[in-house]
Amino acid sequence: MQIETSTILITGGSSGLGAACVESLARRGAGVVNVDLQPPCDELDADIADRVAFVPADVTSESEIRAAIATGEERFGPLRGAVACAGVLFAEKLVGRDGPASLEEFRRVIDINLTGTFNIVRLAAEAIARNEADADDERGVIVMTSSVAAFDGQIGQASYSASKGGIASMALPLARELGRSGIRVVSIAPGAFETPMMHSAPDRVRQSLIDQTPFPHRLGQAHEFASLVAHVFENRMLNGSVLRLDGAIRMGPR
Ligand SMILES: NC(=O)c1ccc[n+]([C@@H]2O[C@H](COP(=O)([O-])OP(=O)(O)OC[C@H]3O[C@@H](n4cnc5c(N)ncnc54)[C@H](O)[C@@H]3O)[C@@H](O)[C@H]2O)c1
Repeated sequence: MQIETSTILITGGSSGLGAACVESLARRGAGVVNVDLQPPCDELDADIADRVAFVPADVTSESEIRAAIATGEERFGPLRGAVACAGVLFAEKLVGRDGPASLEEFRRVIDINLTGTFNIVRLAAEAIARNEADADDERGVIVMTSSVAAFDGQIGQASYSASKGGIASMALPLARELGRSGIRVVSIAPGAFETPMMHSAPDRVRQSLIDQTPFPHRLGQAHEFASLVAHVFENRMLNGSVLRLDGAIRMGPR
């Protein structure tokens, strides 16, 4: 997919990994629709501001996401790409001092992270499938954000790991189905990245994640995630996979 001429929808684009994608893809010349509950944490540089439309919306809402896609297509042209970054972090032991884990919180995490991603993918795919195919029969690309917690979930991460495991598992069946429409689907599973979400974790948790990352021995930077997203858009043989981007971290039980 050619980034320069494309309209790309990014969820969670107001913060962290999504914000880095908004910035880098707009800088490459894409028209970007940032779908988030909150306005952007940082102001965009003036030279790319007119290539980004912020549409406040909840990823779990059908009507709000349909409206966001319509806004993007009116402003920048047919949708070709989607990057689902919106998500929430949550940790709670299955059975703690105060009793069993909250069913309500489990449902909330699954609803935002997994159902919200599915909602984006289905509505984006419907729009992308309407495009003219290019010379290589491609119509567009969808990138979903899983996590290494899908594979090495820690104690307390049952709901978060389940949500991210679902995103990892969806990549292949979606790629198989959408292949006939010329749409590729890839999940990226980041390790520990320096973002506002990571800042919400206690210092000892952040340090423990750095200690478990062999090299580079630090948190990932959001621009490194955005760089892989751009590569997925451009490399046509990437499809149906879950790509770990993690400095070789394999998280221990805690
Ligand atoms: N930072 C990490 O170390 C890390 C590691 C692995 C996976 N991830 C995943 O990457 C994604 C981005 O994480 P981040 O670290 O940039 O987090 P972040 O908290 O900085 O950004 C997440 C954004 O999603 C938005 N959002 C939350 N719920 C929403 C909803 N219902 N509708 C629309 N927008 C909503 C938030 O407002 C926020 O702007 C998440 O899915 C997260 O689970 C992050």
